Amino acid sequence: MNKPSNVTDLDWKLLKEKYKEKKLEKVVKLIEKNYPVQYLIGNVDFMGYEIFVKKGVLIPRFETEGLVEETLNLLKEEKMDDISVLDIGTGTGCIPVVLKKELPNLEITSIDINKKAIKLAKSNASNYNVKINFIHKNVFHYKPINKYSLIISNPPYVSKDEPVGPEIKYEPKNAIFAKNDGFKYYEYIIKQGKKWTTEKNIFAFEIGCNQGKYLKKYAKDIYPNAKIIVKKDLSERDRYLFIINK
Ligand SMILES: C[S@@+](CC[C@H](N)C(=O)[O-])C[C@H]1O[C@@H](n2cnc3c(N)ncnc32)[C@H](O)[C@@H]1O
Repeated sequence: MNKPSNVTDLDWKLLKEKYKEKKLEKVVKLIEKNYPVQYLIGNVDFMGYEIFVKKGVLIPRFETEGLVEETLNLLKEEKMDDISVLDIGTGTGCIPVVLKKELPNLEITSIDINKKAIKLAKSNASNYNVKINFIHKNVFHYKPINKYSLIISNPPYVSKDEPVGPEIKYEPKNAIFAKNDGFKYYEYIIKQGKKWTTEKNIFAFEIGCNQGKYLKKYAKDIYPNAKIIVKKDLSERDRYLFIINK
């Protein structure tokens, strides 16, 4: 059986280890229809950590590693390594698992509207033996009891009219698309977050590459004294928004 052109050598090796001849034929047919290879392998490498993935839960993207790296640097710089964290839309749990492994004194709560995501995120946390408070919850109904010093989120942010790649059709739509030109989650979290945060706090978001300018202004209107930074990814596209309230 020949390797499909859109599969890397490493992924092909993993697939051949996992699936025997007859099954591998079926797997190749699925890949030819753009079914994500990661679902077939069952895990991805996220910042050197093996994260389980499963159909029904969004596959972690490479760009999100940048969000976690930038946030870890910021927390170290600001000496905020033992704070309370709220992670909104946890998916596989890749963000809180890596944060907790890198800074074990963080107290992290992670929420997601998707039950399958919470179940998978729990298994990723237990695989790395880290304690994270996972809650199955819609962020628009969330009423936290505690205050957080970091709110981190890679929420759904793709506008309904934006063109997307073919692989996305196998991933959950409610992990990807957002109303209000993709801004619905950011606007709600930035505004509502005022009640949810300690005086000194950070908001860290992954954003779509055309959303930085609008979001910077939106955040400035709500937090006029904050330091607001839009950072680029390795392809020089606006990708991360940080609101720092000191
Ligand atoms: C872009 S994915 C990010 C997943 C993961 N954090 C990552 O970076 O790979 C967005 C996540 O938000 C969750 N989500 C969507 N709407 C939500 C809501 N109203 N409340 C809570 N979580 C929501 C989805 O289920 C999905 O897991």
